[in-house]
Amino acid sequence: MATQTVPLAESRILRAYWEKTPRSRELHIRAAALLPNGYLEPYPIYATRASGSHKWDADGNEYVDYFGGHGALILGHNHPVALGAIQKQVALRSHYGASHELEICWAELIHKMVPSAERVRFTNSGTEATHLALRLARAFSGKNKIVRFSGHFHGWHDHVSFPPGGAEGIPRGAVDEVLFADPNDVRRVEELLSTRRDIAAVILEPTVATFGTSPTGSEMLRALRGLTSRFGVLLIFDQVISVANPGAAACRRANWRHRCICILMSRASTWTRRARRPTNRRRNSSGMT
Ligand SMILES: Cc1ncc(COP(=O)(O)O)c(C=O)c1O
Repeated sequence: MATQTVPLAESRILRAYWEKTPRSRELHIRAAALLPNGYLEPYPIYATRASGSHKWDADGNEYVDYFGGHGALILGHNHPVALGAIQKQVALRSHYGASHELEICWAELIHKMVPSAERVRFTNSGTEATHLALRLARAFSGKNKIVRFSGHFHGWHDHVSFPPGGAEGIPRGAVDEVLFADPNDVRRVEELLSTRRDIAAVILEPTVATFGTSPTGSEMLRALRGLTSRFGVLLIFDQVISVANPGAAACRRANWRHRCICILMSRASTWTRRARRPTNRRRNSSGMT
C-alpha cells in the first residue's frame, strides 16, 4: 500500500499538540529570542511540576514521564526518602567550600560496590569526568592518542564531541589525536593497538551506546580487556549513565547508576600504585605492564 506523507504543518497530531499546549508555545517563543537552539520541534512542553512517574506542563496537562530525568531518576521524581535527605542537607548550608564527612561515605560506598575503583574523584558532570580521565591517561602514559568508538557519547569537550572527520569549532589538533573504530569492531582496535605506540587509552560506553541502540557485548569487553592489557594501553569505561557495571555484579543487584564517574581500568592496581609515584613515566611509555 502506498504511503502518503503529510506535511508537518498539516499533521493532526501536531494540531492537537498546539491546541493542548498554548502556554508552552508562548514560552517557547519567548525562549527562542534568547536561548540558542534550546528547544525541540515544533516546541517542547514547559514543565511546572513532577511527582513519582508523572509530570505536568504549564497548560496543566499530565504526562507519564518516560524521560525520567534523562535516565537519572531511577527512583522517580521527589521520592520521599531522597527528598527528605536532600532537604536535611540543604538546611545545613548553602555551600561549605570545605570538605565534609559525607563525601568520604559516598566514596567508600562506591569503592565497596566497585572494588577496582581504588581512588574516587567526583566531578560536576560526565563531561568533566571523561575530560579528566583522558587527561590522566595521557599524563600517566606519556602518549597522546585516544581510541573512540563512533556513536559512543562521552560529553562535550573537544576530544569527544565530534564524529570521525571532525566538526566545526573543534581544533584540528584535537581531531588528530582521536582514532575511531566502529562499535564492537575488535579487529580495528587490534590493528590500531598492534601497529601504533602512541595510544594512551581506549574509551567506550561498556554497556550500551547511541540512545540504547548500540549494545557492547561481554565478548567485546573481554576482548578489549585482553588487547589493552597486552599492548599496555589504558581502558576507560565511561559509565556516566549506565545502570549496570559489567565489572561489578553488586552494582547490577543494587540497580545503581554511576553518575559522573569514569572508571579507569587497566591493570587497576598497577595503575593506582604507579599513579601515586609518577616517576620514570616517559621511560615506561612503551607499555604499562
Ligand atoms: C556515557 C556518557 N558519558 C558522558 C556524558 C556527559 O555527561 P554530562 O551531560 O553530565 O556532561 C553522558 C551524558 O549523558 C553520557 O551518557
